[in-house]
Amino acid sequence: MVLVVENLTVRYGSAQVINGVGLRVERGEIVALLGNNGVGKTTLLRALSATLNLHGGKTVSGTAHNGSCDLLRADAVAVVRSGLAHVPEGRRIIANLSVEDNLMAGALAVRGAAKIAARRATVYDLFPVLAERAGGRAGLLSGGEQQMLAIGRALMSHPSVLLLDEPSLGLAPLVARQIAATVRRISDEGMAVLLVEQNTRIALSVADRVTVLGGGRVVAQGRPEDFADSRVLAELSLGGRAREMS
Ligand SMILES: Nc1ncnc2c1ncn2[C@@H]1O[C@H](COP(=O)(O)OP(=O)(O)O)[C@@H](O)[C@H]1O
Ligand SMILES: [Mg+2]
Repeated sequence: MVLVVENLTVRYGSAQVINGVGLRVERGEIVALLGNNGVGKTTLLRALSATLNLHGGKTVSGTAHNGSCDLLRADAVAVVRSGLAHVPEGRRIIANLSVEDNLMAGALAVRGAAKIAARRATVYDLFPVLAERAGGRAGLLSGGEQQMLAIGRALMSHPSVLLLDEPSLGLAPLVARQIAATVRRISDEGMAVLLVEQNTRIALSVADRVTVLGGGRVVAQGRPEDFADSRVLAELSLGGRAREMS
């Protein structure tokens, strides 16, 4: 097992957002993390990448490990060194830098020019359009290309675990499907992927397993086919919230 989260509870101030969540992701596996807006998906990813403090959040209890790395005690750099990379909501590429310099920003923790060049070649192989645009300003890329760049930048650190927060957001369906297919390819090569998606159809089409959050708790886990009826998913996630409020 690569990523193991147990009984995780997270707060922003006095608001408890994640309540005792557990999940596991193995090598070569995509786990889709689904749930309605506001259930705490982004918050969970922040807790795992040691970026929660940047948003005023705090882990109250629980454990989270990437292999032997204690993710809740490590700082953000140590988390990256442990092999966990987080592609945040909204991509966050640096618009004024070139495509290639954005990629290099993802390699700050990587030592050795040969290693960095090899990683860059791998990213360009996965996303050929980034190679074509290498010298151009990142801000001029389309939304889909910017998402590819954000994922490519995360891959520069050669992670064993990839956290993806809504990669399809705002993208045309065809582009979103292309990106999902590439994520599947990356995972097939051995990476563990935790994929947060609002686009459940895409998520279900690439995931090996599904975890549904509702009201900050895991309300269901299963295989993609268990959630093929979208009404099931919506009710589960809403139901979780309702229980939480009662
Ligand atoms: N920085 C923050 N400070 C306070 N509350 C927050 C912050 N970020 C998110 N929240 C709240 O935490 C809950 C979960 O948010 P989030 O993790 O973004 O959900 P999701 O990604 O599932 O849409 C929401 O009620 C949201 O308003
Ligand atoms: Mg979110």
